[in-house]
Amino acid sequence: MKNKTNFAKSKVSSRRRFIKSLTAINLLPFITSTTVNADNTKPVRSANTFAVPPLASGKRSGKTVNFNLKLGVSQTQFFKGVNTATLGINQSYLGPVLRAKRGDKVRITVENQIGVGSTLHWHGMMLPASMDGGPHQEIKNGESWVSEYEIKQEASTLWYHSHQMHQTGAQVYYGLAGLFILDDDDSHQLGLPHEYGVDDIPCTIQDRRFKRDGNLSYIDSMHDRMMGMEGNTILVNGVVTPLLKAQRSLLRLRLHNGSNARTYQLAFSDERSFQVIASDGGFLAAPVTVKSLRLAVGERIEVLVDVSDRKVVQLQSQQSSGGGMMRMMSGGSEPFTVMTIDAEQVKESAHTLPKTLRAMKAIPDPKDAIKTRQFDLQMGMGMMGGGFRINGKSMDISRIDFEVMRNSTEIWEVRNDSPMAHPFHVHNVQFHILDRNGKKPAQIESGLKDTVLVQRGEVVRIIMTFPEYSDSKVPYMYHCHILEHEDQGMMGQFVVV
Ligand code: C2O
Ligand code: CU
Ligand code: CU
Repeated sequence: MKNKTNFAKSKVSSRRRFIKSLTAINLLPFITSTTVNADNTKPVRSANTFAVPPLASGKRSGKTVNFNLKLGVSQTQFFKGVNTATLGINQSYLGPVLRAKRGDKVRITVENQIGVGSTLHWHGMMLPASMDGGPHQEIKNGESWVSEYEIKQEASTLWYHSHQMHQTGAQVYYGLAGLFILDDDDSHQLGLPHEYGVDDIPCTIQDRRFKRDGNLSYIDSMHDRMMGMEGNTILVNGVVTPLLKAQRSLLRLRLHNGSNARTYQLAFSDERSFQVIASDGGFLAAPVTVKSLRLAVGERIEVLVDVSDRKVVQLQSQQSSGGGMMRMMSGGSEPFTVMTIDAEQVKESAHTLPKTLRAMKAIPDPKDAIKTRQFDLQMGMGMMGGGFRINGKSMDISRIDFEVMRNSTEIWEVRNDSPMAHPFHVHNVQFHILDRNGKKPAQIESGLKDTVLVQRGEVVRIIMTFPEYSDSKVPYMYHCHILEHEDQGMMGQFVVV
């Protein structure tokens, strides 16, 4: 399946250059041997200052919080003096961190000025289907869309991103994504670091590949198309392997995998232990001490890191653990740096590590499930794609795959007999993992989740109770969150009635 990217003609030269670079996407898979070798651009490996994304708290009037987001075409300097064509939301690359509280009614106006259709999806949010921002809520170029819903879930780190049919991979890759932090009444009373950008730090981790001319390179080969697009340069909040000058001795990092395809296995260079406090949909019952953790595409994990030793330490990742065949970042199995934390100047934190966080919502009883469904993640090796399927079917926007009853509990069994791992994501719910191949999940996966990595050869059972929203016409999506897989058909649709 070819990506059709017909950007509207424009007199703006930056836009024209951008159009050129995106149009090349259509041709690249078929001319791999003559493609510029992107691996020659050596990223600047040090001294890029960590960037805290701007925080958008919206304009309040009563219970309603208004946000305005504008999707636009821009240029970003990832490398000094080199302009890279990008897409951004209220800024040149990525978007602001939105913040709202349980009980708020958010009203988000999204204006699309990128030259082609787009959408903005609220990943992890429980909300009416027509407000979800999936492929059915396309915003034509030059138009606006208003998404309005009440926040009915607990404090968590969610995110938002383009979900344009067949274009999600390209649009997210160029920059259409951001974080959405939710608070609730007692999330500030847990004694956790919570000063935004000071000791409570969002970290959107992405990998990108650059061409010699400084522009991003998206899909250079059949390999990229099949395995998903992995880059050779790490960005955190849009900055190449940045240096964070820590200000407090206890840091809370909101780690978010905003990559297209890469799974990270994160650990510190000195193998220090740290605490996991939250997964996709909210806090765990108590902090869990780990030395490393896996973060698949779409997942968020909040951690506490004690840097009171005032050292300089790297947050690193092992090479992708996502698949059998994978692109090596630097040839070997050496870990690569995601970011550096310099704690030399820290002030002592007023916070200490809490013993417990909060009582977790009980996992629904499997006996209460009125339905068990099977999902088989499949990838054929066809030259033109189309081999990406769930239960033998490739995504068809005019086909509803099944109906779910509102307020009902279901078990979904997700099976992966394909040659690589797939992060499975469901819209409109926060689920619990019942088991992986019959075994209880690790403690850090015991909380609320909206995305779960299903390894090859694995069957993962998840359980969830669907919210009260119903709409017999507008569906929600479930899909693999490797964006190239999603774009090529590893996605389906359900309605809640
Ligand atoms: Cu994060 Cu269907 O998306
Ligand atoms: Cu989603
Ligand atoms: Cu996949």
